[in-house]
Amino acid sequence: MTKGLFITLEGGEGSGKSTQIERLKERLEKQGYDVVATREPGGTPEAEKIRDLLVQRDGGRWTPMAEVLLFFTARIMHVEDLIKPALAEGKIVISDRFTDSTRAYQSAGHGLPADQIEAINALCLNGFEPDLTLILDIDPKTGIERSLKENQTGGTENEDRFEKLDLRFHENLRQGYLDIAGHEPARCKIIDARDGITQIADQIAQSVFDKISAR
Ligand SMILES: Nc1ncnc2c1ncn2[C@@H]1O[C@H](COP(=O)(O)OP(=O)(O)OP(=O)(O)O)[C@@H](O)[C@H]1O
Ligand SMILES: [Mg+2]
Repeated sequence: MTKGLFITLEGGEGSGKSTQIERLKERLEKQGYDVVATREPGGTPEAEKIRDLLVQRDGGRWTPMAEVLLFFTARIMHVEDLIKPALAEGKIVISDRFTDSTRAYQSAGHGLPADQIEAINALCLNGFEPDLTLILDIDPKTGIERSLKENQTGGTENEDRFEKLDLRFHENLRQGYLDIAGHEPARCKIIDARDGITQIADQIAQSVFDKISAR
């Protein structure tokens, strides 16, 4: 049976995830691969409804645990209805954020105990993890500046809830991502997100092709 490849892009706001997913999809399709690009929270109709609750202005004041459970509810639907079926068809699935975002934001950022998140993860996803995770690493100030610039030019949706959190939070978040990569070096690769868009795209493509040829 052919099995696809599940790739996730992670990193703070404005680190270039959406930009790079577009590039990577193009490159892989040029090489003849069947690619599905998706995002979290969201990716299926049910999960997109939960996304609205989580990311819109006036979306509610969830406690960190309530928030985690909403993220995982959306993630279960995303995995079962979209990601696994696409992988079973041999496709490459690229997701803009996945479980590492929950680890970084809710644990490293908001201080929820990591073992609680891992227990919920085990219960909900039963060990399902990406084959490759690319972590776009950038100092939070540069990332947030990029992302605010984009908002001003009307480039993104009105989903600025997470960007309003303070710089300290974003620094913890960044460290959280670096720690994840430190613990899982076989799955995770840190990419310096200060480089130019094409340079980063080259590095990401190289990592993906390395992973494909190693299988
Ligand atoms: N390497 C880069 N150098 C300079 N600017 C960049 C680079 N990559 C992306 N940008 C710009 O920075 C802004 C944010 O990029 P992008 O939307 O891809 O980030 P993101 O990680 O998806 O952010 P968010 O978490 O807010 O969705 C965009 O205006 C994009 O054009
Ligand atoms: Mg984005």
